[in-house]
This record gives sequence, structure tokens and C-alpha cells, in this order.
Amino acid sequence: MVSISELSKHEGQTVTLGAWVFNQRASKGLVFTILRDGSGMCQCITAEAVVSAEVWEMVSSLTQESSLYVTGNVLKDERSLSGYEIHISDIKIIQIAENYPITPKEHGVEFLQNNRHLWLRSKRQWAIMRIRNEIVFAIHRFFQERNFMQLDAPIFTGNAAEGTSTLFETKYFDQPAYLTQSGQLYAEAMALAHGKVYTFGPTFRAEKSKTRRHLTEFWMVEPEMAFYDLNMNMELAEAMLCFIVDSVLRNKSEELEILGRDKAKLEAIKPPFPRVSYSDAIELLKSEKTKEMVREMLSSRQEELKALTQEEKDLNAEFNNAKKGRKFQIEARRKVILARLAEVEEDLRNIPVWKESVDNLKWGDDLGGSDETLLTMQFDKPILVHRYPAEAKAFYMKRDPENNEVVLCVDILAPEGYGEIIGGSQREDSLEILQNAIKKHDLNEEAFSWYLDLRRYGSVPHSGFGLGIERTVSWICGLHHVRETIPFARTIGRLNP
Ligand code: 4AD
Ligand code: MG
Repeated sequence: MVSISELSKHEGQTVTLGAWVFNQRASKGLVFTILRDGSGMCQCITAEAVVSAEVWEMVSSLTQESSLYVTGNVLKDERSLSGYEIHISDIKIIQIAENYPITPKEHGVEFLQNNRHLWLRSKRQWAIMRIRNEIVFAIHRFFQERNFMQLDAPIFTGNAAEGTSTLFETKYFDQPAYLTQSGQLYAEAMALAHGKVYTFGPTFRAEKSKTRRHLTEFWMVEPEMAFYDLNMNMELAEAMLCFIVDSVLRNKSEELEILGRDKAKLEAIKPPFPRVSYSDAIELLKSEKTKEMVREMLSSRQEELKALTQEEKDLNAEFNNAKKGRKFQIEARRKVILARLAEVEEDLRNIPVWKESVDNLKWGDDLGGSDETLLTMQFDKPILVHRYPAEAKAFYMKRDPENNEVVLCVDILAPEGYGEIIGGSQREDSLEILQNAIKKHDLNEEAFSWYLDLRRYGSVPHSGFGLGIERTVSWICGLHHVRETIPFARTIGRLNP
């Protein structure tokens, strides 16, 4: 048995493969079937004049997503999806699929999410998952090539890592426990045992907000390094992001094309990335430059809205009298228009809210999602925003010896409005300061006693960061929402399927 991705090795041979029917059309004694087998898609041709009456009848009975084994000859064909075509000689039906709910016509997001178990088979979703896999594999390669150890942090924990407001509480026999928000605190213990480590696992946040960036369950990679200061930490994060983007461009170029991703935007992701202090970021956000950008965005969206609405009207008027082929084109174009219209309308609702948020922003506040959007739209590379006010950040971050108001932390914000994909810092290594921080954040000291031991026994400067996988996939794929970046997304409103 061969897979579609390996057809090039079998040119001119007769092969058998297991697959599903993606699409099928018939035309005068010929049936054209597009098969998918997970590894790719390929066109197959069945000729009535060549196959037995039995095979012809079976092929003619195939429905979308029916499963089968096909046997046929592999021929090179430049026009075909995979570059090869199979001329079918025999098939064996495994199952004739019932009426498949996801058809080539337009479906709403809610419907598709309810059918996520099937939606995963669609071409776009298939491409996204393959890019996700590339990103995960690139991350492992990056760290393993640099002699990092991958070790796992527990999922059940007795303490909060990232503030108590987003903790998922659960029962652990007869005591309360929480689902981990981050493996970091454990990674710190591992780094003091192994030098350079990374954890890679699921993390949980009871995010009550419905945004395009928040999941309640997401995957995070968290490197942690002994003897690293903030600068070394930032350099590592920058190198890792460049490595990931480069791997996707090299190995998943076809998938990026399926998604219509502008590759030039990814090709620009080269070091060095701009480093902007939090204070400078606030200044930029409040500057005339940002105000001008907001005005331009609003007027360009309004124009786009007008143009798209008009185009849709014209297409609707044309549709009834159009020929079949043209109807097909119109439907495809309408799909694109409707999707874009929804985005433009959302932007038109959001942009004034973003502007208001920036107007109200003052030094000391954490940057919100929309502030990040307005900031990153002004750069074509990820930006490293460092030294946030201590008040806005987690208890474990080290104070800047040069300015006690701020901490030695960095958030990396992805361009094109995507916003934060990495949060990291140098960790507080003084026992006393850390004890005070735990008190000040109103955290349970008892639960952190093991963590404080790391400052009692051979404390060293150390740093690390966390990269959110789904936000990274969303940015690299150019997606509108993180819900498409993970096989089964968990958000405030969704636990099924
Ligand atoms: O900035 P965060 O909260 O940092 C930490 O958890 C640190 N302990 C990491 C560390 O230093 N080891 O989260 C890190 C990243 C964010 O930048 C974002 O990419 C992602 O995790 N993230 C989320 N992704 C999806 N949905 C959510 N609700 C997310 N919350 C954070
Ligand atoms: Mg953060």
C-alpha cells in the first residue's frame, strides 16, 4: 500500500491505496474522483471502456467521504493536485458514506465547529494541522539541537503560577487542586538540576473572555535556563521564532498556499527584531502616528465595505442568468466576499473601541489585546516589549536593578496585529524579595515553600519564557481566530465535540 504523498516514487507502476472520496464528477464514460488519504489529494480517472462493468458500477455509486481501496496506474500529470494521476483498474469499497453534512457550499462557523470531528478533513483545516505539526517539530529540533532537555511538568497543581483569577479548580481526592496554568515554576526546579530544559504541555486558563486569541486549554512550550539573564532570554526567543518560521516556509510551502498566506510577510521574519521598552510602547500608542493610523484604518475599511457590498450586489444580479461554469465562479467569489465582509464589519465595530482603550491607557496598565494590535500593526517583524511595570506582571519576575518600578520581563508581539505570542522574564532569585512578592500577591505561602527552596539552595540568575502554540499557528497561518489552530478547541462556550 502506498500513500498519495509518495506517488512520485511509483510513476508508471500499478499501486493500491486506501482513501476517501473528496469529490467526484462524471462526464461521458469517465468518472473523475478526487481522493484524499491524509497525506495528500490526487485525481483518479475511471474509464467505462477500460474497467469491468462491476467496477464501473461501484465507482458510479461513490458518495462524498466514502472509504475505499483503489488500484490503478500512476501517471505524471502536471495539472493534477499531487502532480500525479491514477488511472483506476479496480476498487474495493469499504463503506459508502451517508449524506455528508459538510458540502462545498457555504457553512457558518457555529455549524462547522459543531462538526469539528468532520471539519478536520477539509482542505484548509488539513493544511493548518500540518503547519501546526511542523511548528511543534521545529520547536523540538531547535531545543534538542541546543542540548536542552525536554521534561514534563505536572497538570494537577496545588498552587497558581499566573494569578488566581483564571484558575480551574478541580477535586483531587478530598483536597482542592488546580489545572496548571503554566509549567514554569516546575521548569525552574528542573533547570537548576539540568541547566537548560523545556516543558511542552497543555495549560489551562479559565478565560471568561470571548476573543479571537483566548482558549481555555492551550499548549505551551516553556524553556527555562540557569545562568541566563533577560538579554540572553530575548536572543533565544528571537532565534527560536526565526527557526520556526523558516522551517514552515521550507517544508510547508504548499500548505501556506492552500491558506492563501502572504509568504513575503513570513520571509521578512529575520533577526534582529525591534526591542521596545514598555514605556516607549505607551508613548508610541499615544502618539499622533497611532491616531493617524486609526483614522486611516477606519476610512479604508469603510471604503472596502462599500466596494464589497457593491460587488456582491452585482454578482447576485448576474447569478440567475449565468452559465454553469460562471455560476461556480460566482459562488466561490461570494464565499470570499462574505468572509471578508464579516471581518471588515467586525473591524469597524472594534477599531473605535481599540482607540478608546488606547486613549484611556496610562503608564502602569498591562497592555490589552487591542493595544497590542495597534502596536504591532506598526512593525513588520515581531517586537520585543520589555520592562513592564511590576504591578502589571506576575510575582516571580525580577525587578530591574536600574529601575525598581519595572521588572526584567519581555512580551513578544507578533506582527500584522496578532499580538502577544510569548511571555517571559528573568526570575527573581532573591529569597527575601520573592517571599515579599508572594505575600503582596496574596498567594498561599505554604504552597510555594518548595519553590522558595530553589532560592535557598544554590540560587542563580535564571530566565525563561512561554510560547503559546495556538497563537503562533494562528499568526503563521494568517488565521482570524485561534479556534482553527488546534484539533479540538476549548473556549468558554465550547466543550464538545
Ligand atoms: O504570558 P503567559 O501567561 O506566561 C506564562 O505563563 C509564563 N509562566 C511563561 C514562562 O515564562 N514560562 O503565557 C505565555 C503565552 C502567551 O504569550 C500566549 O502565547 C499563550 O501563552 N497564552 C494563551 N494562548 C491561548 N489562550 C490563552 N488563554 C492564553 N494565555 C496565554
Ligand atoms: Mg502574558
